[in-house]
Amino acid sequence: TELGLWQERYTPPAGPVVLVIMDGIGLAPPNDGNAVSQADIPTLRRLWRENASLQLAAHGTAVGLPTDKDMGNSEVGHTILGAGRVLPQGASLVQKAIADGTLFGGATWQQVVDKCTGSEAGTLHLIGLLSDGNVHSHIDHLFALLRQADAAGIARVRVHPLLDGRDVEPHSALRYLDRLETLLAELSSGADRDYRIASGGGRMRTTMDRYWERPDVVEAGWNAHVHGVGLQVPSARAAVERAYANKVASDQQIPPFVVADAAGTPVGAIEDGDAVLLFNFRGDRAIELSAAFEHEHFDFFERGRRPDVLFVGMLQYDGDLGLPRHCLLVPPAIGNTMVELLSDAGVPSYHVAESSKFGHVTYYLFGMRSRPFARAKVHEVSSGGLEPDEHPEMKAAEVADDVIAAVDSGEYRFIVVNFANGDMVGHTGSLPAAVKAVEAVDAAITRIHDAVRSSAGVLVVTADHGNAEEMLQWSAKSAAFKQDADGNPIAKTSHTLNLVPFVIVDERQPPGYAVRRDLARPGLANIASTVLNLLGYAAPAQYDPSLIRPAPEQTDAG
Ligand code: 3PG
Ligand code: CO
Repeated sequence: TELGLWQERYTPPAGPVVLVIMDGIGLAPPNDGNAVSQADIPTLRRLWRENASLQLAAHGTAVGLPTDKDMGNSEVGHTILGAGRVLPQGASLVQKAIADGTLFGGATWQQVVDKCTGSEAGTLHLIGLLSDGNVHSHIDHLFALLRQADAAGIARVRVHPLLDGRDVEPHSALRYLDRLETLLAELSSGADRDYRIASGGGRMRTTMDRYWERPDVVEAGWNAHVHGVGLQVPSARAAVERAYANKVASDQQIPPFVVADAAGTPVGAIEDGDAVLLFNFRGDRAIELSAAFEHEHFDFFERGRRPDVLFVGMLQYDGDLGLPRHCLLVPPAIGNTMVELLSDAGVPSYHVAESSKFGHVTYYLFGMRSRPFARAKVHEVSSGGLEPDEHPEMKAAEVADDVIAAVDSGEYRFIVVNFANGDMVGHTGSLPAAVKAVEAVDAAITRIHDAVRSSAGVLVVTADHGNAEEMLQWSAKSAAFKQDADGNPIAKTSHTLNLVPFVIVDERQPPGYAVRRDLARPGLANIASTVLNLLGYAAPAQYDPSLIRPAPEQTDAG
């Protein structure tokens, strides 16, 4: 697909189009749990008031998720934003493939079965996030795998659950673990079946790092899952209860654990000849463990013995690297993303975020491809391993400096930046920190706005999904914030179902276009067309409609 011109009459801005994605900053009525309404954010309020703005759908079917009960997330948000159209996302692809049987109909599942049945049967290890958040995984998918393993005659299964508390309630691990233990007991009651939990831990301490920010987290998971090395417990439940007694604020921070028998032998270390299936469908936090299992050369930590296993991903996580080599589902390749088209047309773009969101404005925006397109320049600002709730400003100022330098350089027509604060601090559940996080984003945007104005560019501000605007659990039933046994409000660490802001700040008078108000459910999928139009290009036919339309011809009446 080649980019054509949008409109004869439209003149693109002299400066760049700068797209600011405020991660996890959605729209909700002001209230005690809303860190955005409580924040002192003069610039955002003014930009919102004085410019053409819209509220965009960023969750559910608007971003390719199974239902409108599914909250938005950064993966689907950035992917849909970059692709310019709604495409079914991992959660939907897996759900459908289970329903129609294709998940277990392919050669890869058969390889798993072959490996784990017969005279030299290996153990099947299932590693992944245990919740129904539907962001990285879904417990229903795990259960389908377990039942299918049983039906296929696999005798020995070890589950390595990663505990959530980030996409679901902060202390909900036992709910999911109890359901899992019940199913494992049911399946193990059959003849010649031995299905157990072997190791695990909170997802932010165990295995699920992303973008190589904290390889030590993956190392701790590797040691627990593969070597059976870590804090020994008699059961996963015991590990959770112990962490709660130690006042762990949410399940995501539960230390890695290894289930061991009375003699201290781990019940499920990973051996040569086993099969390992990572049942997360989302790639960002699955890539590192996949690489640890697959890559010959691996510099991020000492793996020790690397077992000779069949390693399988629920999905292929990186289309460029072909990682992992084996997967149950290969998602359809996402071509013609906005950045790819711009690059092909020779239009230079610049992509920056701090570590924890770096892949969001590159890998996801590029359609789950890790290699930048020829004209796309990418830059990561190191997050420096700081805890977001202790440093809610994170690296927003440094990221803003970088954006401003890119604007001032005059080298780029399109600049996209993600501010991690609203989301990363939102996930910690700390309301006061989330207020500061949103204020840091406002300060950064204030400076970026000045730079864009001086360069005669156009600033577009939006968000990929909500988070910081709901920091307390709300009970619809009692129409009040939920309380724990001591009467304290319960933190909400997850994303939300809220709309997100969208505003175009263009100083030109007149700008040559008008914001459309006639779309039934404008959403993130409409942004790519809009950006292309602002840059003077027509959007491809396969894209969802633009949020702007050419201004009607000037008449004598004005
Ligand atoms: C995470 O991975 O941190 C959360 O599960 C989702 O957050 P994100 O979609 O904003 O990255
Ligand atoms: Co998030």
